[in-house]
Amino acid sequence: MLYGNIKLLIPSAMAIQRYKVLHDYVRANECVLDEYSDVVLDLIEGELPTDLAGVLYRNGNGRFAHQGVWYDHLFDGDGMISRFAFDGKQVRYRNRYVRTSEFLEEEKAGRMLYRSFGTNLPGGIIRNAFRMRFKNAANTSVVWHGGHMMALWEGGLPHRIDPVTLETIDRYDYNGVLRNQFSWLDSRIMPELPFSAHPKIHPDTGVLHNFGTLAGTKQRLIMYEVNPDGKARIGQVIEMDDMTFSHDFVLTQSGHRILFLTPVAFDMPRALLGLTSPAASIKVDRAKPTLVLVIDPDGTIHRLSTDFCFVFHFVNAYQDTDGKLIVDGLMLDYFPESALMKAYLQGDVADDGAGARFTRYTIDPEAKQVTHAPLADYEGELPEIHPDLLGKVYRYAWGIGRPITHNRPLADQIVKIDVQTGQGTHTGNEHSLPSEPIVVPRPGSTVEDDAWLLYLLFDDRTQATDLVVADAASLATVARLRLPHNIPLGFHGMWLPDAG
Ligand SMILES: [Fe+2]
Repeated sequence: MLYGNIKLLIPSAMAIQRYKVLHDYVRANECVLDEYSDVVLDLIEGELPTDLAGVLYRNGNGRFAHQGVWYDHLFDGDGMISRFAFDGKQVRYRNRYVRTSEFLEEEKAGRMLYRSFGTNLPGGIIRNAFRMRFKNAANTSVVWHGGHMMALWEGGLPHRIDPVTLETIDRYDYNGVLRNQFSWLDSRIMPELPFSAHPKIHPDTGVLHNFGTLAGTKQRLIMYEVNPDGKARIGQVIEMDDMTFSHDFVLTQSGHRILFLTPVAFDMPRALLGLTSPAASIKVDRAKPTLVLVIDPDGTIHRLSTDFCFVFHFVNAYQDTDGKLIVDGLMLDYFPESALMKAYLQGDVADDGAGARFTRYTIDPEAKQVTHAPLADYEGELPEIHPDLLGKVYRYAWGIGRPITHNRPLADQIVKIDVQTGQGTHTGNEHSLPSEPIVVPRPGSTVEDDAWLLYLLFDDRTQATDLVVADAASLATVARLRLPHNIPLGFHGMWLPDAG
């Protein structure tokens, strides 16, 4: 039964066949071809909490193919927002693709027109050389700040989204702040400034902090600040030796911002000539350490280093009573190169025991020391914490993951880590794959894990996605609702208590 009012262009049968390989991870990521409006989800287990009211939003790849051409990279799928409105009695579901200008142009043309971060256009060098305008996938996260809901993608501008209808309002440059004005040539190379998909909102000031890494006549790291009223400014521009790749950063309540810059660099000439996608051009230098960049509240920069590592996502960070900075992240001891990401997207995932490990870094900027140790015997990704504890001392982290002794190749469990004791718990089964768990504190709660977890769970037996409400303390399922289709596992979401 179709509820949708829009039928999207369908990948060719041959292309679908290519992905009908074996792994439930691949089936979980089947393209979504319909857009649904306010579908009441069927409750298939448990009961909905009557005091759980608000809206869960999620962003992620809706489809990995366009007109029979498959994207080569996990990060290139077209962004699709899902909306789950809870009123204590039922959940209403809606989904919409983000109508970026590239999406609309490609839908109209009926073919792929733009290169992506990890995918070149079909046709080789002739079609890719000197084409430096890339598709803004708008697929990574959603944020609410300054009166706007925005879909974010780290390589370009945010897209403003109507929080009720999910219609795309516009491509948003913060009244010109995100226009490249470094020089005439820079503005030609990259007219729009990148705005990462992992902004952090300061717990006291409400200021949104973010960063972007910009290629051009110089390699620049740009630090942004957006006031609670939505007024944005470039707070700092840091010139870098290489055009590195960074996905996330941390902000402490004390006002420190910390980035880990792995010694990887885009090979810009190769990407410019169309010989490879930007992602495939990345070169890794394992002989070098990872740069730990600490920016003090007053803007002073400390350049420290740690062993070679790559961190997609940090868990949290804070300044300890002795002045040291504690940074918890999910540490890979290798860089996930584009060939690996392509294999992963196609379900070729070997159990090589090389997941991202929950790791604590202790940083002393004055002594220029960085030490690290495992936080728990768990691997994980897509970590979340209690929403009131960003930048502060905290105890619990949740995410997808697995114990390091686990014998399945994917992060197929929901995990809870006590970062103070190192103890972890997990739940899951061999038939399902979870997405990022969002933490929603119970009304009036005073205990950190007195909360619900909201996450999507692809069930390989039904080939559909379920919405799960779980108890954040025990991880036990409280309620489970069934969607009319699968949603690819996706990336990041948020909870708005007042958007129902
Ligand atoms: Fe992310």
